[in-house]
Amino acid sequence: MSVIVQAQETLQPEIVSKKTVLSGIQSTGILHIGNYVGALSLWAANQSQYNNLFMVANLHTLTVPEALNPTELRRKSREVAALYIACGIDPGESIIFLQSDVPAHTYLAWILGCCTPVGWLERMTQYKVKAAAQETVGSGLLNYPTLQAADILIYKANYVPVGDDQNQHLEITRDIAQRFNHLFGEYFPLPETLNRRSGARIMGLDDPAQKMSKSIAAKKQGHAVALLDSPATIKKAIMGAVTDAGGEIQFATASPGVKNLLVLYEVLSGDSQSAIEAHFAGKGYGALKRELVDLVVATLQPIQDKFYKLMDDEQGLNELLSAGAAKASLIANQTVADVRQLVGV
Ligand code: AMP
Ligand code: TRP
Repeated sequence: MSVIVQAQETLQPEIVSKKTVLSGIQSTGILHIGNYVGALSLWAANQSQYNNLFMVANLHTLTVPEALNPTELRRKSREVAALYIACGIDPGESIIFLQSDVPAHTYLAWILGCCTPVGWLERMTQYKVKAAAQETVGSGLLNYPTLQAADILIYKANYVPVGDDQNQHLEITRDIAQRFNHLFGEYFPLPETLNRRSGARIMGLDDPAQKMSKSIAAKKQGHAVALLDSPATIKKAIMGAVTDAGGEIQFATASPGVKNLLVLYEVLSGDSQSAIEAHFAGKGYGALKRELVDLVVATLQPIQDKFYKLMDDEQGLNELLSAGAAKASLIANQTVADVRQLVGV
């Protein structure tokens, strides 16, 4: 059964002791406003109240055949880390690191894989969709969820903030943890999924029936707003977004394309749905789009400024990632030491 905590505007404070939050993004393609709304903006909220770990999932990226270019992968991984910080992840409050710099993840993934029935892995939607699109399917694609489970369980994470397309991966993580606990004794806490109540799945601007995705964004203009897009490109994408022949602006009755624009406006403005409906009453979709363009540009401008500054200081970013990996390793290595004892190796 899935345990989904509906995130309010922010993560809720914990009273007793700090809980642990972990999440990650693969270093493929183009990060877009869906990644920001569904994941990054949620990570940035209330960091001081949690122990946070945010990793660049560059080992998961190796399951994407187009990513098998070492120079590109190296560059992309650093870019994603810089975008984390530019989007508000504070290296003073959160541990930021590359997944590949903490080898204990792959060690634990092996052990967890040995407790995971192949049938569970074959049933994963992401596996079925991605495998169907590839001529040769690497076993890494099948084992993707055991590495993701290791990423989460190795820090005994309590909360995993993600978009709702990751919910199945979180369910299998809990199943794997339970199976391990059953076989070797209660050890791993079961992590909870944190999804935004509104904005957990941003749809394509060109096709509101499809999730906004990095891979489509790389091939098709007008599908997404990328986090590094210029104001002119942002304007073109949003003004060209699919709507409908009507003009009324109501969350409950909006067509999928209009609803998508409204949800983006809601999350980025922080305004309530009723305030947004009152604001746009009688104004039509043109006004909604124009104001959304301004809001997206105003949100992304400071992110882009910060991103380019971080990318200019190569050594600074490398040092930050090394320090992150060193801190993460301390926790991860302890878990692996415990697990070795428990399983008898
Ligand atoms: P990915 O782009 O698949 O690497 O996803 C990175 C993070 O962004 C994950 O937490 C996803 O669930 C989230 N995410 C990706 N696409 C969307 C989207 N269209 N809407 C909301 N969240 C998304
Ligand atoms: N599978 C996630 C995605 O595609 C990335 C990821 C890897 C992740 N390990 C994770 C997300 C651990 C949350 C927790 O977006």
